[in-house]
Amino acid sequence: MLAAMHIRAATAADWPGIWAFMRLILAAGETYTYPRDMDEEAARAVWTPPAPGRTLVAVDGGGSEGGSAGDGGAGGGAGGGGAGGTVLGTAKLHPNQMGGGAHVANASFMVAPGAAGRGVGRALGHHVLDQARQDGYRAMQFNAVVESNTRAVALWRSLGFEILATVPEGFHHPVKGYVGLHVMHRRL
Ligand SMILES: CC(C)(COP(=O)(O)OP(=O)(O)OC[C@H]1O[C@@H](n2cnc3c(N)ncnc32)[C@H](O)[C@@H]1OP(=O)(O)O)[C@@H](O)C(=O)NCCC(=O)NCCS
Repeated sequence: MLAAMHIRAATAADWPGIWAFMRLILAAGETYTYPRDMDEEAARAVWTPPAPGRTLVAVDGGGSEGGSAGDGGAGGGAGGGGAGGTVLGTAKLHPNQMGGGAHVANASFMVAPGAAGRGVGRALGHHVLDQARQDGYRAMQFNAVVESNTRAVALWRSLGFEILATVPEGFHHPVKGYVGLHVMHRRL
């Protein structure tokens, strides 16, 4: 099914498809420092940053931008499925700091659990790095990569990121307890 995947700017119609799996990833509480009970309005605010920030979606099927995102999907599957395509994953890209720190980008990624392990995260990573270069950023920094999220750490390393530092016991994992929180970085 990924033969038809493509990555594009998110539209308002994509939000239900994003939220369908974002809420599951937030509720699990294993990979992000967002509150596990974050409500939809707050989640939408953090995931759709104002310009120059961008929100992207990886979609399967559909064709045109701006179509209905359908009913938002169910379970761990990908959300949506309207004319804009089924949302398989999403990323956001924005300055990591304001003012004199705004030339370093920050990005975050989420793939629907039902679509994981099929290259969506890697494709989003490549796309976001290219977009960040086009936007004129000089580097990209991840502030809080959970040490036990080994799939993500391996993916970011393979995309050229290095661990600058690890905050000891910086994250309270619901199952593993206190684990490290990596700061990861790469020049663009
Ligand atoms: C981390 C995440 C974005 C990766 O997305 P994905 O679409 O599953 O990743 P991909 O299929 O592109 O695989 C990327 C790498 O993960 C690893 N991987 C894939 N499936 C795996 C599995 N079942 N078990 C362990 N590692 C796996 C592989 O190393 C793969 O590299 P490869 O391309 O050389 O095979 C996704 O799992 C996710 O959204 N997780 C929850 C939220 C999160 O952790 N976000 C990142 C926070 S820093």
